[in-house]
Amino acid sequence: MHNQLVPRGRFISVEGVDGAGKSTQLSWIDRWLTSEKIAHIVTREPGGTPLGEKLRALLLNEPMHLETEALLMFASRREHLAGIIEPALARGEWVLCDRFSDATYAYQGGGRGLPKEKFEALERWVQDRGGEMIQPDLTLLFDVPPEVSQARIAKSRELDRFEREAASFHERVRNAYLERARAAPHRFRIVNAARPIEVIQQELHVLLSGWAHETLA
Ligand code: TMP
Repeated sequence: MHNQLVPRGRFISVEGVDGAGKSTQLSWIDRWLTSEKIAHIVTREPGGTPLGEKLRALLLNEPMHLETEALLMFASRREHLAGIIEPALARGEWVLCDRFSDATYAYQGGGRGLPKEKFEALERWVQDRGGEMIQPDLTLLFDVPPEVSQARIAKSRELDRFEREAASFHERVRNAYLERARAAPHRFRIVNAARPIEVIQQELHVLLSGWAHETLA
């Protein structure tokens, strides 16, 4: 139950294909929020809770039916919302989340080819709280062309089930992300992540300062 005396926190998700450089940018945003004295938590999907982290280990390593994969993503999300995200937002803290439902649309939808109607039903089940659909207030999509993400993935030491997928899989994931961003421009900001880190961070600084100013006004 939301405490009416404390303004609800803001929910920011960070998305992108594997190899988009999302982790580096996420750490930068974490430091930016701290420097702005905005109380926040940093968390991730799949994962974020003790059970969610166990599901993550299975999802990244165990072969499974593609529908099992989608269902486990939402099971991890349910746990995460109830145990971490909703309580933090109710305390007035901001939530910086490494991936959320858009990743399911991109990976299990675009990548694996499952129909989006399945996720819409699961989303209503998992994210609808008393008529209110919990969605990020802001989603930063770090976008890179396939040759850039593939080159970055190739440098990783150990690849998980998703990183091992063919380049065509990652291209479908990227296209599905871009399609989702186009469908929800009020919430998405697409960041060209093929540029040097400092340039991206300058853009993030302007983007986040402006957004925070607007959202807190
Ligand atoms: P990460 O390596 O960026 O933390 O993400 C773990 C992997 O999980 C990544 O390859 C994308 C995948 N994933 C999905 O396929 N569907 C989802 O809903 C989520 C949250 C992640």
